[in-house]
Amino acid sequence: ALKGPADRPLAGKRALVTAGPTFEPIDPVRGITNRSSGKQGFAIAEALAQLGAEVTLIAGPVFLPTPRGVTRIDVETARQMLAACQAALPADVGVFVAAVADWRVDEAFGTKLKKEKGGPPALTFVENPDILATVSATGPHRPQLVVGFAAETNDVEMHARAKLSRKGCDWIIANDVTEPGVMGGEDNAVLLVTQEATERWDRAPKDEVARAIARKIAEALA
Ligand code: CTP
Ligand code: CA
Repeated sequence: ALKGPADRPLAGKRALVTAGPTFEPIDPVRGITNRSSGKQGFAIAEALAQLGAEVTLIAGPVFLPTPRGVTRIDVETARQMLAACQAALPADVGVFVAAVADWRVDEAFGTKLKKEKGGPPALTFVENPDILATVSATGPHRPQLVVGFAAETNDVEMHARAKLSRKGCDWIIANDVTEPGVMGGEDNAVLLVTQEATERWDRAPKDEVARAIARKIAEALA
Protein backbone atom coordinates (compact mmCIF):
# COMPACT_ATOMS: atom_id res chain seq x y z
CA ALA A 1 0.00 0.00 0.00
CA LEU A 2 1.09 3.57 -0.58
CA LYS A 3 2.37 5.34 2.50
CA GLY A 4 1.09 8.81 3.26
CA PRO A 5 2.38 11.42 5.70
CA ALA A 6 0.18 9.98 8.45
CA ASP A 7 2.24 6.76 8.35
CA ARG A 8 5.50 8.69 8.68
CA PRO A 9 4.89 11.28 11.39
CA LEU A 10 8.64 11.41 12.17
CA ALA A 11 9.71 12.24 8.60
CA GLY A 12 12.36 14.96 8.74
CA LYS A 13 13.13 14.25 12.41
CA ARG A 14 16.48 12.97 13.65
CA ALA A 15 16.67 10.37 16.40
CA LEU A 16 19.59 9.10 18.45
CA VAL A 17 19.29 5.74 20.21
CA THR A 18 21.82 3.97 22.47
CA ALA A 19 21.51 0.23 23.00
CA GLY A 20 23.25 -2.81 24.39
CA PRO A 21 25.85 -2.96 27.16
CA THR A 22 29.20 -1.24 27.23
CA PHE A 23 32.41 -3.20 27.67
CA GLU A 24 35.20 -1.76 29.79
CA PRO A 25 38.57 -3.46 29.36
CA ILE A 26 40.72 -4.68 32.27
CA ASP A 27 43.48 -5.98 30.04
CA PRO A 28 43.55 -7.01 26.36
CA VAL A 29 41.59 -10.22 27.06
CA ARG A 30 39.35 -9.28 30.00
CA GLY A 31 36.80 -6.67 30.91
CA ILE A 32 33.65 -5.80 32.81
CA THR A 33 30.27 -5.38 31.27
CA ASN A 34 26.53 -5.21 32.02
CA ARG A 35 23.78 -7.60 31.14
CA SER A 36 21.86 -6.31 28.14
CA SER A 37 20.67 -8.11 25.04
CA GLY A 38 20.21 -4.86 23.11
CA LYS A 39 16.81 -6.11 21.91
CA GLN A 40 14.68 -3.28 23.31
CA GLY A 41 16.98 -0.53 22.01
CA PHE A 42 17.31 -2.10 18.55
CA ALA A 43 13.52 -2.50 18.37
CA ILE A 44 13.03 1.18 19.27
CA ALA A 45 15.53 2.27 16.61
CA GLU A 46 13.63 0.18 14.05
CA ALA A 47 10.23 1.50 15.14
CA LEU A 48 11.40 5.12 14.93
CA ALA A 49 12.79 4.50 11.43
CA GLN A 50 9.49 2.93 10.38
CA LEU A 51 7.74 6.14 11.40
CA GLY A 52 10.09 8.05 9.08
CA ALA A 53 12.82 9.26 11.45
CA GLU A 54 16.47 9.43 10.44
CA VAL A 55 17.91 7.15 13.14
CA THR A 56 21.47 6.83 14.43
CA LEU A 57 21.83 3.74 16.62
CA ILE A 58 24.89 3.69 18.85
CA ALA A 59 25.39 0.10 19.93
CA GLY A 60 27.61 -1.58 22.48
CA PRO A 61 28.76 -5.15 21.79
CA VAL A 62 25.68 -7.23 20.87
CA PHE A 63 24.97 -9.90 18.29
CA LEU A 64 21.96 -8.38 16.57
CA PRO A 65 21.37 -7.43 12.94
CA THR A 66 21.13 -3.73 12.10
CA PRO A 67 17.48 -2.72 11.73
CA ARG A 68 16.36 -1.62 8.28
CA GLY A 69 16.87 2.03 7.48
CA VAL A 70 19.00 2.68 10.56
CA THR A 71 22.57 4.04 10.66
CA ARG A 72 24.51 1.98 13.20
CA ILE A 73 27.70 2.94 15.00
CA ASP A 74 29.37 0.21 17.06
CA VAL A 75 31.29 1.16 20.20
CA GLU A 76 32.73 -0.67 23.19
CA THR A 77 33.24 1.66 26.12
CA ALA A 78 31.03 4.28 27.82
CA ARG A 79 33.43 7.00 26.80
CA GLN A 80 33.25 5.91 23.16
CA MET A 81 29.45 5.81 23.41
CA LEU A 82 29.35 9.36 24.77
CA ALA A 83 31.66 10.63 22.01
CA ALA A 84 29.53 8.93 19.34
CA CYS A 85 26.36 10.47 20.82
CA GLN A 86 27.87 13.93 20.82
CA ALA A 87 28.97 13.46 17.21
CA ALA A 88 25.41 12.43 16.28
CA LEU A 89 23.87 15.64 17.64
CA PRO A 90 21.83 17.64 16.86
CA ALA A 91 18.83 15.34 17.09
CA ASP A 92 15.16 15.95 17.81
CA VAL A 93 14.91 13.00 20.18
CA GLY A 94 17.43 10.95 22.13
CA VAL A 95 16.48 7.55 23.54
CA PHE A 96 19.07 6.14 25.92
CA VAL A 97 18.41 2.44 26.27
CA ALA A 98 22.00 1.25 26.73
CA ALA A 99 23.03 -0.50 29.94
CA VAL A 100 26.16 1.58 30.41
CA ALA A 101 28.80 0.20 32.79
CA ASP A 102 28.85 2.59 35.73
CA TRP A 103 32.53 2.04 36.40
CA ARG A 104 35.68 1.27 34.49
CA VAL A 105 39.12 0.20 35.67
CA ASP A 106 41.06 3.42 36.12
CA GLU A 107 43.95 2.27 33.95
CA ALA A 108 43.50 -0.81 31.82
CA PHE A 109 46.61 -3.01 31.59
CA GLY A 110 48.36 -3.02 28.23
CA THR A 111 49.40 -6.65 28.50
CA LYS A 112 47.57 -9.71 29.77
CA LEU A 113 47.63 -10.12 33.57
CA LYS A 114 49.13 -13.48 34.55
CA LYS A 115 47.81 -15.64 37.38
CA GLU A 116 51.18 -16.50 38.86
CA LYS A 117 52.21 -12.87 39.37
CA GLY A 118 51.31 -12.55 43.07
CA GLY A 119 47.63 -13.51 43.26
CA PRO A 120 44.50 -11.68 42.13
CA PRO A 121 45.02 -8.08 40.98
CA ALA A 122 43.64 -5.24 43.09
CA LEU A 123 41.64 -3.22 40.59
CA THR A 124 40.62 0.36 41.22
CA PHE A 125 37.54 1.71 39.53
CA VAL A 126 36.49 5.16 38.42
CA GLU A 127 33.02 6.31 37.44
CA ASN A 128 32.10 6.51 33.78
CA PRO A 129 30.51 9.63 32.32
CA ASP A 130 26.72 9.65 32.45
CA ILE A 131 25.72 9.83 28.80
CA LEU A 132 22.04 10.53 29.42
CA ALA A 133 22.73 13.29 31.96
CA THR A 134 25.42 14.81 29.74
CA VAL A 135 23.18 14.96 26.66
CA SER A 136 20.26 16.25 28.80
CA ALA A 137 22.48 19.15 29.82
CA THR A 138 23.73 19.90 26.27
CA GLY A 139 22.80 23.58 25.87
CA PRO A 140 21.41 24.55 22.47
CA HIS A 141 21.98 21.10 20.94
CA ARG A 142 19.88 19.31 23.56
CA PRO A 143 17.30 17.14 21.81
CA GLN A 144 13.78 18.48 22.27
CA LEU A 145 12.84 15.16 23.90
CA VAL A 146 15.29 13.15 26.01
CA VAL A 147 14.18 9.68 27.10
CA GLY A 148 16.02 7.53 29.62
CA PHE A 149 15.47 3.94 30.67
CA ALA A 150 15.72 2.36 34.08
CA ALA A 151 15.95 -1.29 34.98
CA GLU A 152 15.01 -1.68 38.61
CA THR A 153 14.49 -4.56 40.99
CA ASN A 154 12.31 -2.80 43.59
CA ASP A 155 10.31 0.42 44.17
CA VAL A 156 10.30 0.91 40.40
CA GLU A 157 8.25 4.11 40.21
CA MET A 158 10.10 5.79 43.08
CA HIS A 159 13.53 5.04 41.59
CA ALA A 160 12.34 6.09 38.12
CA ARG A 161 11.05 9.43 39.38
CA ALA A 162 14.29 10.07 41.25
CA LYS A 163 16.23 9.30 38.06
CA LEU A 164 14.04 11.64 36.00
CA SER A 165 15.04 14.62 38.12
CA ARG A 166 18.64 13.55 38.70
CA LYS A 167 19.33 13.11 34.98
CA GLY A 168 17.39 16.12 33.73
CA CYS A 169 15.59 14.06 31.08
CA ASP A 170 11.94 14.34 30.02
CA TRP A 171 10.78 10.74 30.35
CA ILE A 172 12.00 7.63 32.11
CA ILE A 173 10.80 4.30 30.81
CA ALA A 174 11.23 1.88 33.68
CA ASN A 175 10.96 -1.85 33.89
CA ASP A 176 11.07 -4.33 36.69
CA VAL A 177 13.82 -6.76 35.75
CA THR A 178 12.74 -9.24 38.42
CA GLU A 179 9.65 -9.94 36.23
CA PRO A 180 10.28 -13.44 34.86
CA GLY A 181 11.35 -13.43 31.21
CA VAL A 182 12.12 -9.70 30.94
CA MET A 183 15.92 -9.75 31.23
CA GLY A 184 17.15 -11.05 27.86
CA GLY A 185 13.63 -12.27 27.05
CA GLU A 186 11.09 -11.26 24.43
CA ASP A 187 8.64 -9.33 26.63
CA ASN A 188 8.71 -6.10 28.53
CA ALA A 189 6.35 -4.47 31.04
CA VAL A 190 7.12 -0.79 31.45
CA LEU A 191 6.15 2.31 33.34
CA LEU A 192 6.35 5.60 31.46
CA VAL A 193 7.25 8.27 33.99
CA THR A 194 7.07 11.97 33.03
CA GLN A 195 7.03 15.13 35.15
CA GLU A 196 3.25 15.10 35.02
CA ALA A 197 2.19 11.48 35.21
CA THR A 198 2.96 7.78 35.36
CA GLU A 199 1.55 5.36 32.79
CA ARG A 200 1.64 1.64 33.48
CA TRP A 201 1.74 -0.32 30.22
CA ASP A 202 0.63 -3.91 29.88
CA ARG A 203 3.25 -6.57 29.37
CA ALA A 204 3.90 -7.03 25.65
CA PRO A 205 6.60 -8.27 23.26
CA LYS A 206 9.58 -5.89 23.06
CA ASP A 207 8.85 -4.93 19.44
CA GLU A 208 5.28 -3.99 20.36
CA VAL A 209 6.52 -1.92 23.30
CA ALA A 210 8.99 -0.29 20.89
CA ARG A 211 6.23 0.66 18.44
CA ALA A 212 4.15 2.16 21.26
CA ILE A 213 7.16 4.19 22.45
CA ALA A 214 7.83 5.40 18.89
CA ARG A 215 4.19 6.48 18.47
CA LYS A 216 4.32 8.30 21.81
CA ILE A 217 7.52 10.08 20.69
CA ALA A 218 5.85 11.08 17.40
CA GLU A 219 2.92 12.59 19.34
CA ALA A 220 5.29 14.50 21.61
CA LEU A 221 7.29 15.94 18.68
CA ALA A 222 4.23 16.81 16.59
N1 CTP B 1 22.99 5.98 31.55
C1 CTP B 1 23.90 6.62 30.74
N2 CTP B 1 25.22 6.67 31.10
C2 CTP B 1 25.63 6.09 32.24
C3 CTP B 1 24.71 5.41 33.08
C4 CTP B 1 23.39 5.38 32.69
O1 CTP B 1 23.52 7.16 29.71
N3 CTP B 1 26.92 6.15 32.57
C5 CTP B 1 21.56 5.97 31.16
C6 CTP B 1 21.02 4.63 30.76
O2 CTP B 1 21.17 4.41 29.38
C7 CTP B 1 19.56 4.78 31.15
C8 CTP B 1 19.59 5.70 32.35
O3 CTP B 1 20.83 6.39 32.27
O4 CTP B 1 18.82 5.46 30.16
C9 CTP B 1 19.46 5.06 33.67
O5 CTP B 1 20.49 4.12 33.83
P1 CTP B 1 20.69 3.45 35.25
O6 CTP B 1 21.84 2.53 35.21
O7 CTP B 1 19.37 2.93 35.69
O8 CTP B 1 21.02 4.76 36.12
P2 CTP B 1 22.20 5.09 37.09
O9 CTP B 1 22.18 6.57 37.25
O10 CTP B 1 23.47 4.50 36.62
O11 CTP B 1 21.73 4.47 38.47
P3 CTP B 1 21.96 3.00 39.13
O12 CTP B 1 22.76 3.28 40.35
O13 CTP B 1 20.55 2.53 39.44
O14 CTP B 1 22.66 2.11 38.16
CA1 CA C 1 23.79 2.27 36.20
